Amino acid sequence: MNVAFLSLAQSPPLSVPLRFFLTAPLFGMAAGMLLLFADAEILSNRWSIDTLLMVHMITLGVVSMVMIGALQQLLPVLMGVVIPRADLVSRLLHFLWTVGTLLLLMGMAQQQPALTGSGVALLATATLLFVTMILYALLRSDSKHGTLTAIAGSVISLLLTLLLMLWILNSSGWNAPVAHPLTNLHMSWGLLGWFLLLLIGIAYQVVPMFQITPEFSPAVRRTLAPTIFVALVIWSGAEFLQQAWLGWLAIAGLVVAVGLFAVILLWLQQQRKRRLPDVTLNYWRISMIAFLVSIILWLTGYLQEDSRWMESAVSIFLMGGILSAVSGMLFKIVPFLVWLHLNNLYQSEGEWQGNVPNVRQVIPAVYSLWQFRVQMVALGLVTIAPLELLLDQQSQYIAQAAGIAWIGSFVLMLMALLSARSKYQSALSSLSESKSA
Ligand code: HEM
Repeated sequence: MNVAFLSLAQSPPLSVPLRFFLTAPLFGMAAGMLLLFADAEILSNRWSIDTLLMVHMITLGVVSMVMIGALQQLLPVLMGVVIPRADLVSRLLHFLWTVGTLLLLMGMAQQQPALTGSGVALLATATLLFVTMILYALLRSDSKHGTLTAIAGSVISLLLTLLLMLWILNSSGWNAPVAHPLTNLHMSWGLLGWFLLLLIGIAYQVVPMFQITPEFSPAVRRTLAPTIFVALVIWSGAEFLQQAWLGWLAIAGLVVAVGLFAVILLWLQQQRKRRLPDVTLNYWRISMIAFLVSIILWLTGYLQEDSRWMESAVSIFLMGGILSAVSGMLFKIVPFLVWLHLNNLYQSEGEWQGNVPNVRQVIPAVYSLWQFRVQMVALGLVTIAPLELLLDQQSQYIAQAAGIAWIGSFVLMLMALLSARSKYQSALSSLSESKSA
């Protein structure tokens, strides 16, 4: 692993990202419980309240939670950007995001505009704080890497995702679901802007570093993220101006860019130099395959004007594409950060670094292996569950089995993260014992 270019001294305390990482599986388990106990239409009717709840448990509670935590750690380490008062900012952001998400979910579940509005207010405050902080930090960075542009596009997309929803909810009396035509734009800025652009920016750095692949070419790094961002702007213009040909132009740009990203990453994985088995490689591989499948499903739905294909495409994009890559990222980044922090500490105390657990010891491979297997079972079940309804089967067994598998996969993720934290704490206490001896 090449870590020579990392700004290791800039790294904020481990608690900064870890509090977000440890909260995410809890929302994931809640989403699994909902799937287990809700009506089967949760996987086939996009405007049911349960569907909206599950979507936001995953998008706000799991994926955004991990990404907000990860960015606060990755910006200083990868881009040499210092976030002032990192621990205080992280506590505040974590509080606003967690409580805001809970209030929003409660408001949607109970159809209480006051609760929904309070949740949105907290989420909006967190978003403003987070986006301002990240853009300010990026403006001060000397780096010219494509990651910087991708992250900037990603956090601006988060702001637009929120603004669109503020507008929609304000016009609907703060009740959801609204089944508003512009919800598709909210969803696209969220999934393709906020999530995918960030994933692309992070992939430029972590895929070559952790998977020992060649680098993404400079031309790809320069053009991919801006193409997706501009295509989203054009698509939004097309929706507002009701210009179908503009919409087609944007969709062509998005399909080519997302498809290229997936194909290039799969190709880079094929070129990797060290061919040791590594389960996190599989998470990324599944993620890229899911992106390709969702493009095909989405195009089919668009051409046939059949929304069921498009709903399956969105579900595979989120649960297969985004969530698999996020899990793969966590199982690599967390052990690396634990090792990095301990190594820095031991070094600064003049202690022998041989006592620092290596990355393979921080999260034993058995956790990531089983988490991957269970998550893939859950993904497979979620993908085929809507067929039950299409085939007019009244049973909900597949959706319920998917719920159990989701809960299992997030329990395993939480156990792995707690194991990493306890390894970190025991290495810290043995350091303080050896100092006091
Ligand atoms: C930041 C605060 C957010 C709020 C207040 C919010 C609120 C909402 C509401 C009220 C709807 C239903 C709209 C309707 O019925 O027409 C919705 C839909 C949706 N939102 Fe969000 N959202 C937020 C963030 C996000 C983010 C970050 C994502 C990430 C991708 C996201 C993804 C979606 C998706 C995919 C749908 C469509 C669900 C479906 O079709 O079943 N949301 N959102």
